[in-house]
Amino acid sequence: LASIEVDLAPVKEGQAITVLWRGKPVFIRHRTPEEIATAKAVPITDLIDEFARNDALPEDTPATDPNRTKGGHENWLIMVGICTHLGCIPKGQSLGDAKGDFGGWLCPCHGSHYDTAGRIRKGPAPRNLEVPVYNFVNDTKIKIG
Ligand code: FES
Repeated sequence: LASIEVDLAPVKEGQAITVLWRGKPVFIRHRTPEEIATAKAVPITDLIDEFARNDALPEDTPATDPNRTKGGHENWLIMVGICTHLGCIPKGQSLGDAKGDFGGWLCPCHGSHYDTAGRIRKGPAPRNLEVPVYNFVNDTKIKIG
């Protein structure tokens, strides 16, 4: 399917789900206020990849937390769940998963650590996790693609 709709209502704060879109896993995390605050506090100069990698924004957009989410919906982080190193699926979607040194995701293949905005912070991956094009259909439903 070129685009899919996803109901976010069942996903409580602190939880995450994975959906399949164009054959790729898409991570949807309902971030906690702490996760958002942590992501916002990171200076761009601390980032390995300073670009937002948000398919809805120009390529040279900086990787601030707001540039990786949608205004008014910053509690939702939506990204393609494929490590930008060699394509493994990072861990961190389930509550019991190791989430890495930055509280986001940890790729089990070669140890890439992603933060709570899905930005690469440590390890061999060169780029932040990709944010696909999506829109809010209403407050609890998104359309990806
Ligand atoms: Fe993720 Fe290598 S594929 S660290």
